[in-house]
Amino acid sequence: MPVPMLVLGLESSCDETAAALVDGERRIRADTIIDQGADHAAFGGIVPEIAARAHLDRLDGAIRAAFAASGCDLPAIDAVAATCGPGLIGGVIVGATMGKAIALALGKPFLAVNHLEGHALSARLIAPVDFPYLLLLVSGGHCQTLLVEGVGRYRRLGTTLDDAAGEAFDKGAKLLGLGYPGGPAIAAAAARARHPIRDLPRPMLGRAEPHFSFSGLKTALRQRVTAAKEGGPLDPAVIDDLAAGLETAIIDCLVDRMARALALVRESGMALRDLVVAGGVGANLALRSRLADFAAAAGLRLTIPPGKLCTDNAAMIAWAGIERLRLGLVSGLDAPVRPRWPLDDRAPSALGAGVKA
Ligand code: KG4
Ligand code: ZN
Repeated sequence: MPVPMLVLGLESSCDETAAALVDGERRIRADTIIDQGADHAAFGGIVPEIAARAHLDRLDGAIRAAFAASGCDLPAIDAVAATCGPGLIGGVIVGATMGKAIALALGKPFLAVNHLEGHALSARLIAPVDFPYLLLLVSGGHCQTLLVEGVGRYRRLGTTLDDAAGEAFDKGAKLLGLGYPGGPAIAAAAARARHPIRDLPRPMLGRAEPHFSFSGLKTALRQRVTAAKEGGPLDPAVIDDLAAGLETAIIDCLVDRMARALALVRESGMALRDLVVAGGVGANLALRSRLADFAAAAGLRLTIPPGKLCTDNAAMIAWAGIERLRLGLVSGLDAPVRPRWPLDDRAPSALGAGVKA
């Protein structure tokens, strides 16, 4: 039997230093993630220079740990895939340079992977999802609906006019004193809520344009927090109720915008079978459950990778590398690193959308 191809993936575009080994039979042979949360905690967000230095210090160790966990040797790999953007450029340079150096030393192909493509294709690592599919990509920096037509072929439908969904969770958590990353903290607080607040705004709800917006929601939450603090520090039960209100409002927006994107695709005459969710916010259990209902009602099959594959990881980068290698889409060692790298570079700017009622 032929041995399936084995690809080393590296991810260093944000605050996870990650290395993974994945094979062409969809087996994750190793998935090492060194989280930098503690390095940034005191700053209430990610400090790019601290992230870059931490990647530099730890990427070696992450790669060694991945090989040790897999039982494979370095020469056994068929190619190296590394995130070459978008992201915090110092960290991206560290991972891309390491990936190119390993590929050069072994004489193996190098694959420059778009981090967002890693998220976009991650569903195909866990299930045989065929193109085309509708994707909700929701992370700390991105919030988009996309039609995924193939590897490297993306049509952006909706995007955010201001904050990303993950950013809305993170900023909300900061306002509520719940720390970073905000998504898991908000979800945990929401699960404890006895009287969730229900009247936070849902920006863009029902609009014909498929775009998202979250800054008005953040402002409304800030006003509620300021009012609640007038009597002294926030009561833990009030924090939980506000967190639950925020989580539901974000999810209502995401589901509504997803519905709008689906309607646009169907109006264009395209038959769709699959709905996919990717990115860190996809780890949210309440969102997963609401989207399961939405997909069932829309007659779509829903695929959401498990939480660990939704948040940043290198297995999705290795997998995107495998998808590219199969199509011969190999990169040169001069592949650029890109702080900004949209999946659909033909998509018009969404600025100006959302201004009409
Ligand atoms: O994809 P990701 O790990 O990194 C980026 O590429 O941005 O996404 C991180 C984002 C953060 O904003 C984090 O708060 C959010 O995903 N997140 C969640 C959950 N877990 C992570 N948001 C809501 N609920 C969660 N359980
Ligand atoms: Zn990400």
